[in-house]
Amino acid sequence: MTDVLRLSAEQSYAAELAALSAADDGPRPVGWKLTPKAVLTYLMGGAAPGGTAITPKYVGQRRLIETAVATLATDRALLLMGVPGTAKSWVSEHLAAAIAGDSTLLIQCTAGTDETQIRYGWNYAELLAHGPSEAALVATPLMRAMREGALCRLEEFTRLGSDVQDTLITVLSEKVLPIPELATALPARRGFNVIATANSRDKGVNELSSALKRRFNVVVLPLPATLEEEVSIVRRRVRELADDLALPVPRGVDEQIKAVLTVFRELRSGVTADNKVTLKTPSGTLSTAEAIGTLVGGLSQAAWFADGQLGARELAAPMVGAIVKDPVQDKAVLAEYLETVLKRRRGYAQYYAELGEAL
Ligand SMILES: Nc1ncnc2c1ncn2[C@@H]1O[C@H](COP(=O)(O)OP(=O)(O)OP(=O)(O)O)[C@@H](O)[C@H]1O
Ligand SMILES: [Mg+2]
Repeated sequence: MTDVLRLSAEQSYAAELAALSAADDGPRPVGWKLTPKAVLTYLMGGAAPGGTAITPKYVGQRRLIETAVATLATDRALLLMGVPGTAKSWVSEHLAAAIAGDSTLLIQCTAGTDETQIRYGWNYAELLAHGPSEAALVATPLMRAMREGALCRLEEFTRLGSDVQDTLITVLSEKVLPIPELATALPARRGFNVIATANSRDKGVNELSSALKRRFNVVVLPLPATLEEEVSIVRRRVRELADDLALPVPRGVDEQIKAVLTVFRELRSGVTADNKVTLKTPSGTLSTAEAIGTLVGGLSQAAWFADGQLGARELAAPMVGAIVKDPVQDKAVLAEYLETVLKRRRGYAQYYAELGEAL
């Protein structure tokens, strides 16, 4: 274990990337570290030619990741869309790690992000002392990606103001970054491209202009279709995160994952799993990411306060935290769910009692 809290994808999975690259001599887009097929194997899991096991990073439809990888090999940029917690940032990080070997060229976009954080800024001491020059430029991650032929990640792209978004049009269509102050333009090296992520649920976001839309291919990452699929995602990620945090994983954890996800999926979809009772839905998304957070919270509680025993008692508080985002409305939704569904369901007596108490 290192003392760095979180390693980048290319650091955490260095061995897998090296194993894939060792036997990967096929043709590839200029500037790519791996062939598109090897990138796909890295994302979806499988075996590297030497026999090294590659763990799946994304669990879901292979076709979506194929489209994403293929897009990055063209002159169009990639926009990953979806509700919160559908692995947009996660996929974007792993794509950048596999394709460019560097996932750290990242711009977190907010409503307050301005052009200088997207294109370039100035070192004002240098600018005042010597006037505009190459040395006085402060390169943004986008500018560095263009210089190095790497991938730039733009997180929560639609939070940018529309005028700031549109500064990307020249970069994406002409593949140059004009620097009028120096009367030059920085051409992008081959291998450069952009991966943006955007949340389709957030309020207060700015739609992409149609000029910009044309320069992106959109891939929508869905919520997991079945309980089994979601259980397998959560099980894998919870084990990895617990390992990182040195938290022991008790033997009965799969049962608890299933219980938490059953509750989350029913509340999320507004109907019980057997399609018999319609339910009110809470205001939050209750995504897979939230289920992962709930379980890791429960594991921490179990490890430090309950002798490693994980059950409804340890999970109730993080579950209520995930479900109740609006203190009035969501509380009523959960209380109704407890009374109409969980109270009578076999095997859920403890969840009924503990959730009721935590509410
Ligand atoms: N289909 C999936 N396959 C693998 N991991 C998943 C999947 N869905 C969710 N996850 C996990 O959920 C966690 C959160 O994902 P991530 O932060 O990428 O979500 P996001 O879509 O970027 O959300 P937000 O819109 O809130 O930024 C990650 O740990 C990721 O591993
Ligand atoms: Mg994200």
